[in-house]
Parts: sequence; C-alpha cells; structure tokens
Amino acid sequence: MDKAVGFYRDVLGLVETGRDDQGRVFLKCWDERDHNSIILREADTAGLDFMGFKVRDEATLDAFEDKLAAAGLNPETIPAGDLMETGRRVRFRLPSGHLIELYATKTSVGNGMTMTNPPPWNAQSENGIAPTRFDHALLYGPNVAEVERIFVDILGFYLVERVLGPGNETSVAIWLSCGQKVHDIAFVEHAEPGKLHHCSFLLESWEKVMRAGDIMSMNDVPVDIGPTRHGVTRGGTIYAWDPSGNRFETFQGGYYPYPDVT
Ligand code: FE2
Repeated sequence: MDKAVGFYRDVLGLVETGRDDQGRVFLKCWDERDHNSIILREADTAGLDFMGFKVRDEATLDAFEDKLAAAGLNPETIPAGDLMETGRRVRFRLPSGHLIELYATKTSVGNGMTMTNPPPWNAQSENGIAPTRFDHALLYGPNVAEVERIFVDILGFYLVERVLGPGNETSVAIWLSCGQKVHDIAFVEHAEPGKLHHCSFLLESWEKVMRAGDIMSMNDVPVDIGPTRHGVTRGGTIYAWDPSGNRFETFQGGYYPYPDVT
C-alpha cells in the first residue's frame, strides 16, 4: 500500500483526501471537486472492486434502483458512510462480472481554488503527472451485448463506438457515454469475468501527455504502450502500470460524439 499510495500521490499526482479505519486511502484529481474518485485498498491481487457513477440526486438514485430491480439485477443498498464522505450507494453486478455502483451524494471539497475569480491552476496542478479528473475505465468480461443493453436501456448511456466481431454481427468491444464525453466506460468481450483493463486519467493537452511520459521515465514507471493515438476515440494516450500491476492511462483529447446522429 505504501508504494501504491506514494505512486498515486507523488508520481500520478492525485490529492490524498483521507484514510478510513479499514486502511482504505481516498484520493481525487486536483481539479475534481468531490471528496474522492479513486480508492485504494490492500489486496492480494491487482484489479477493480467496483466502479461508481454519480447520479443527479437521491430521487434519481431511487428511480434507478427501481429500474434495476425491475430488470432482475438485484440491486443492493450500501448505507451512507461506508465510504468516506459518500452517501447511500446502489450496487449491482453486470453479466460481465463487474460491480457497478450508483450514488447521489459525495461531499464537495473543492479544488483548492476560490469559486469567485479563481486562478487557472494551483500548486496541486503541478504535482506529478497531475490529471484533471478520473475519465473512464475499460473493463473486460463476458456477455458484452447484455452489458450494452443494461447501460443503454436502464442507465441512459448511448453507444459511441464498437468493434465488430466475425461476420459483423456482434460487438466484441463497446464504448459508452452518458454525456458528451467520447466515453465514460468501455467493455471488451473476454471469457474471464470481472477484469480491469485500465483506469484512465484526463490530461489537458498532448504536451501534458508527453510530460507524463517524462515523469514515468524519471520514476521508472513501466510503460505498456505510447505515447500514441487511439484509433477508437482519437485520444492521445500512454498506458502504463501502477506498482500493484493495475494498468492506468494518461489520456488527452477525443472527439465530441453526437448521440442524436447514427
Ligand atoms: Fe482508455
């Protein structure tokens, strides 16, 4: 944990916002306002416990819980306070094996700058690679077609891109968005359930991706690929590994999808 926390705080450049009595360490990116976006815990293997999405308000959370229950996804409620500064969470398991959570409440701690006449950046934005936010994750597991239906029909996402399988009849990989980002989550078809490919952190420019590469090199961070450009999403990217063996991405750009045009 010490090595992992040191990496996320000092090399990737996230802000540590708290530790709980279970030893979990809570972090956020410098320009995020909510208390945490990445939580680290000690484990025997690398991987992802769950990914959470914030919804508009508690009434919206209730409505999603009802929809998930009606679809037979057996949502489970985790009471407020289980995670630091976080309200009630609704958790369900995807047919790919991944746990997804929805929540409406997380304490805003701000980005260290004033809301009136704020400066463009501060010291936190110069610490390490310093992404502005957690951007997306790519997960892999079975039943991607069913996962797509859940995200589109129940959670209100839309399909931005896909990779077609043999015969062009099935999707072997999908990229889904719930706003105007090029993707918020992506899935690749894979026999083994519940796998994490990478968590991605947003940088403001290609220059900052190059700087991220410098910082990885200066800190002996093992790089998987890049700097390069993705075909899907057109993002500028580096894939690299955290000290536990989780792949992460420093990502920049990507186009704006138009969900009304198919
Ligand atoms: Fe990515």
